[in-house]
Amino acid sequence: MTRSRTGEEPVSGGTGEHILSLLRQKKEAHISGEEISNSLNISRSAVWKQIRALRAAGYMISAEPSKGYSLDASPDTLHPAEIRHGMKSLLVGRKIQSVAKTVSTNATAFRLAEEGAEEGTAVIADCQSGGKGRLGRVWASPQGVNLYCSVILRPDIKPVAAPQLTFLSAVAVARAIERLSDLKPRIKWPNDILVDGKKVAGLLNEMSAETDKVNFVVLGIGVNINMRAEQFPADLRHPATSVFLETGKTVSRTAFTRVLLEELDDLYRQFVNEGYAPVRKEWLEKSRLEGAVVTVTDNGSSRSGRVRGIDEYGALILENGEQILSGDVVIV
Ligand code: BTN
Repeated sequence: MTRSRTGEEPVSGGTGEHILSLLRQKKEAHISGEEISNSLNISRSAVWKQIRALRAAGYMISAEPSKGYSLDASPDTLHPAEIRHGMKSLLVGRKIQSVAKTVSTNATAFRLAEEGAEEGTAVIADCQSGGKGRLGRVWASPQGVNLYCSVILRPDIKPVAAPQLTFLSAVAVARAIERLSDLKPRIKWPNDILVDGKKVAGLLNEMSAETDKVNFVVLGIGVNINMRAEQFPADLRHPATSVFLETGKTVSRTAFTRVLLEELDDLYRQFVNEGYAPVRKEWLEKSRLEGAVVTVTDNGSSRSGRVRGIDEYGALILENGEQILSGDVVIV
């Protein structure tokens, strides 16, 4: 495994990915070493070296002397080719950079965006050493169990409208959880995803903008997928959970990432074509906040009222017309 110039560890490199895609094209059938070497214009010993590396990375590749190689099973390693396999996205996830470890996928994606990475590029890590949460908090990011993902978008919107994309990502995460489990997540304003009152996912969107123009937005998404109870920090402010803890079933992170990127793609293309209204409608349905009586606590003071909706800047609007920009919401 090679190290990139940033010190991040790529999950795997180009030739291995090409071999995997050749193996996959054959489905259960075999492909000979000679065919691989001719297709990729590499030596037979280079093919063998790559097969060994793929096996070491957890791929079950069987070899039969007269037939060649076949792919029997793939690990849940967040390999870009595995994620993209059968994925229906047109824009989001067209490019995926998957790293074994990074400080924060948001920081990596932000740097790539500054360097000109194309819209839709997704950065995914198996673990983060400095996962960032909202308000300067730490996002627990143990290895091998969850999803830490950041997506670069370049929307033609004003900076004040950027919170709309946070609402869009919350809807996408909720949809992905619904597609891969029988859970019915609820979105908690402004951007937590809860299951049974416990936080299962969080969003941290960051942007680069000028006064009147967004250069790019990084959608940072953390989903607790297969995390076990003992892997949560002891000092959590709010109760937290994972899809595994709620369902008792392990979910493939690869499948989850594929589905999440598809949902982001679907919602973002709708956002570009039709604007914010469809996102707002679905967000309100999934938050179950419309019409609910809530108490919002912020910096020691609290306000109560019936929720009328959210405005185009993401503020919570109460029936008395009050606009609430931040705080902790409890449905009473
Ligand atoms: C929150 O506090 O609820 C937001 C958590 C956001 C965590 C994700 S994990 C992927 C991305 N990279 C980060 O460093 N943070 C976000």
